[in-house]
Amino acid sequence: MKPTVAPFPATRLRRARQTPGIRGLVRENYLATGDLIWPVFVREGKGEEEPVPSMPGVMRRSVDKIAEAAREAQALGIPAMCIFPYTPLEQRTEDCAEAWNPDNIANRAIRAIKDAVPEMTVMTDVALDPYNINGHDGYVVDGEIVNDRTVEALVKMTLAQAEAGADIIGPSDMMDGRIGSMRQALESEGHQKVMILSYTAKYASAFYGPFRDAVGASGALTGDKNTYQMDPANSNEALRLVERDLTEGADMVMVKPGLPYLDICRRVKDTFGVPTFAYQVSGEYAMIQAAAQNGWIDGEKVMMESLMAFKRAGCDGVLTYFAPAAARLLNG
Ligand code: PBG
Repeated sequence: MKPTVAPFPATRLRRARQTPGIRGLVRENYLATGDLIWPVFVREGKGEEEPVPSMPGVMRRSVDKIAEAAREAQALGIPAMCIFPYTPLEQRTEDCAEAWNPDNIANRAIRAIKDAVPEMTVMTDVALDPYNINGHDGYVVDGEIVNDRTVEALVKMTLAQAEAGADIIGPSDMMDGRIGSMRQALESEGHQKVMILSYTAKYASAFYGPFRDAVGASGALTGDKNTYQMDPANSNEALRLVERDLTEGADMVMVKPGLPYLDICRRVKDTFGVPTFAYQVSGEYAMIQAAAQNGWIDGEKVMMESLMAFKRAGCDGVLTYFAPAAARLLNG
């Protein structure tokens, strides 16, 4: 169908922009608190809230403080939180056994949130990097990140998280075959309701730098993640990955990082029409915060504009460290 646009002056597109009321009537996209997933960092201790220097406004919280944060999130209308552990150095090993310890800090945080706020949707991260002495998401054997042995470990990790009460499993490791193995294990162990939000199109990105500080993996990482995370030059490959993950049993898919990859969000949504999320990652957050702190941009406005961009690109929701700040603004 060809759009009917009369020539100027019959058509003046500015007519629809003249007042806040009219702009509201023709607005195409909305951001709501219900679109937000809040990633939080958990650490050992009690009563601890330790700032992450490269992520101004973000804390590593002890489990009790995570429970408090869950109450705050609920009051703000944030439906979901995603847990990332800052594992003590002595618990990082070559076999990564702490990853599936039922009482590791991530699993304790899941239980603490569920005790404090049963309605909170709890998402997890599945990858070995917070537990791996060399900072990689998979096992390293003779300098190679091995796939199938890693998947076996990730399945154990998934089941421990599901036992702890996780609602959404978030595999961020980019190994092949992990979604199918996790889904099968969840089904056979009685966790049919547990969802998988696959980090499907996860790029090998320098925008993860501040996150690796936050989880203490920066110093540990040897080499790069280019043999498992995606090449930033690729787009068709993202669609193949989404198709693959959906056939293996992913309920939702994610594109990561966010703003630099909005074209991928749009292609995924248009091609598959499945629940699609973006992760506005640590480096994106840090850039906005740093420029705002310097007075170079209006931080609040840029925050809201950046979040709206995800809705415009077709995302159903977004993982963002801005979740509480954005929710506060949305709630007036
Ligand atoms: C770990 C993981 C990373 C992020 C989420 N899960 C880092 C990485 O892959 O190196 C990045 C999140 C962010 O930068 O905010 N597998």
